[in-house]
Amino acid sequence: MKRLGVNIDHVATLRNARGEIHPDPVNAAKFVKKVGADSITIHLREDRRHINDLDAKRICSIKKLLVNLEISTNSKIVKTALKIKPDFICIVPENRQEITTEGGLNLKKNKLKIKKILAKFKKKRIRTSLFINPSIIDVRISKELNTDCIEIHTGRLANLVKSGKKYSSELNKIIKCSKVASQLGIEVHAGHGLDYKTTKLLKNIKEIKEFNIGHYLIGESIFFGLSRVIKNFKRIIKK
Ligand code: PXP
Repeated sequence: MKRLGVNIDHVATLRNARGEIHPDPVNAAKFVKKVGADSITIHLREDRRHINDLDAKRICSIKKLLVNLEISTNSKIVKTALKIKPDFICIVPENRQEITTEGGLNLKKNKLKIKKILAKFKKKRIRTSLFINPSIIDVRISKELNTDCIEIHTGRLANLVKSGKKYSSELNKIIKCSKVASQLGIEVHAGHGLDYKTTKLLKNIKEIKEFNIGHYLIGESIFFGLSRVIKNFKRIIKK
């Protein structure tokens, strides 16, 4: 059974636009779970542009809610994440000027640093994941780093599909990486830029166990409501 993780950062973005307390991402996390999400994702960015430390703490203390915390390799963020103790962490690259995460991690350059960070979370029995580009080399490095999971960056595929360009080569890369990772004993997730169409393209890859979806899902909810949109995504990934 494939799982759906819902990224609720955009709820915090909306709240922050007013500098007040509504809409509360804590309520969003509870609601999203109630209507069928298997986990929620939040990204504690270095500039705290959406979720802040208090949100993360409150969300991680909600009972029976699985929380995936995305973090960079910044040492202060790592320390904060270790204190907050989410169920899962996913290490992502972070660049202050970007609007959203633009690519996968540069594993070659940051091997040692990432390995040490993963070991700290593993010691606390927190599931670890690395956000990587669909590259076999990166899958093999991920294995060396001893991560539990990888999340394959689907942003390029999504952009190709949305702009009506040929996407089969990018899709094949995702398929191959999913197979190799799974053979190496790494659990495979996928995320970034996914909408109904791109999720339908990926749902048949049996190695992908989890999808993490945010922007499109929250955007569609303005028209159709969170409950309906989450049910639609669950139906798509169920096969
Ligand atoms: N997965 C990761 C690692 C991400 O950084 C993001 C964006 O925060 C997502 C999934 C969700 O991407 P989107 O908001 O485009 O659905």
